[in-house]
Amino acid sequence: MKKSRENWGSRIGFIMAAAGSAIGLGNIWRFPYTAGANGGSAFIIIYLAFTFVIGLSVMLAEFTLGRKTHLAAVGAYKHHSKNWTFVGVLGVVSAFLIMGFYPVVGGWALSYIFKSFTGVLSDASAIGSVFEGFIKNPIQPIIWTLIFFGLNVVIVAKGIAGGIEKASKVLMPTLFILLILLAIRSLTLPGASAGIEFLFKPDFSVVTGQTYLAALGQAFFSLSLGMGCMVTYGSYISKKERLPLDALTVTALDTAVALLAGLAIFPALFAFGMEPAAGPGLVFVVVPTVFAQMGGIGIILSALFFIALSVAALTSSVSLLEVVAAYLIDQKHIPRKTAVYSIASIMAVIAVFASLSLGAMSGATFLGVGIFDFLDILTDKIFLAVGGLLLAIFVGWVVKKEDLERETTNEGTVKFVLFNVWYNIVKYIVPVAVAIVAVLGITSIEQKGVMFFGLGVIGVLALFSKKL
Ligand code: TRP
Repeated sequence: MKKSRENWGSRIGFIMAAAGSAIGLGNIWRFPYTAGANGGSAFIIIYLAFTFVIGLSVMLAEFTLGRKTHLAAVGAYKHHSKNWTFVGVLGVVSAFLIMGFYPVVGGWALSYIFKSFTGVLSDASAIGSVFEGFIKNPIQPIIWTLIFFGLNVVIVAKGIAGGIEKASKVLMPTLFILLILLAIRSLTLPGASAGIEFLFKPDFSVVTGQTYLAALGQAFFSLSLGMGCMVTYGSYISKKERLPLDALTVTALDTAVALLAGLAIFPALFAFGMEPAAGPGLVFVVVPTVFAQMGGIGIILSALFFIALSVAALTSSVSLLEVVAAYLIDQKHIPRKTAVYSIASIMAVIAVFASLSLGAMSGATFLGVGIFDFLDILTDKIFLAVGGLLLAIFVGWVVKKEDLERETTNEGTVKFVLFNVWYNIVKYIVPVAVAIVAVLGITSIEQKGVMFFGLGVIGVLALFSKKL
């Protein structure tokens, strides 16, 4: 362990940063529409069970691996065995590719803060076409995406305690307050109770295999698991912290925000008689439509909502940029600023093309899909699932049990009563559950070209990434 390696400045700072990574578009954009499309409360119950049994255990495994080695994703695996280096590399590649499309949506969110005030969102009947027109525009969304990148670069270039932690300590409480305000407004609308029923009254007749698949995928994505993100954040935790408690806190915060986002969106949605299963356009179309029907106060609420969405997206994308930067810093000894500027520039170029692939360049496809969809499928459906599976196998079967016990109990100085329960979940339950979901999920990908390409990339990495 080098003396110069950075650390989080305080426990609360680390919790805010890790929660900032977890809480993102996944909670406010993806969770509501996924829940909506999968029947609401029954999905949510399954999602909660997966989050607190599997997600929480995997998060603790990632923190443990990171802090034990004080190395980010690639180094943490390599430290144990060169044969496993590629799992870390897969994580870095995933983070890099997610940064090729996630900031595009982050840019949309930023622009909607301003659109809330310009009046383009005030005519409820035109909101759908405003969104369509905007994301297909060859210039506007790109400018917003680049601004979003700029914010990322400024934060990550300042480092762990001085950049990511500092920003998260301001941004996360802001996000919590905004969402609570929005949920209160939504819950006090006449007719809000139908939304509460949708969220909390389970109807298990709508549950199918796909529901479980969607629930576990959502749990992993929302908690930032499966690609070494929490390994990297874990690598900056001080040896005095209690890892199990930290993992529980971050998981609970992430879940609370997903539910809060549901409480902000569904009661209002039902109050205005709209459909819950509106797909990815839900927060950019349905939500502004609801606000438009509220008149003047709707403008303010809309701006607040998109500030919250932008903040959530920003603290998550920061963690993705950090994963790639940390690799270059730890393994290639490149200075932080150089690493951040160069890697973010390349990501931004990819993001520009991802944005164009939704409009001006929609004719240009690779393996049957545009770049935006290609990157989304490749990472979310393939790399994260395989990455999560391999991580659990690695922690459960390769890392020594005594080492894990020492790390999770701070060398035996604090108690972790559930150590054996956790260890067995990671060793047996997680690999089986994730393997089932990974196989079902990957084989159900409609774009077979992308599926084979993704699996091929993993194969190539497994063979050739030992030296990275
Ligand atoms: N968890 C974030 C969200 O909910 C997205 C994210 C950040 C992520 N880092 C990640 C997803 C690492 C998977 C892996 O929006």
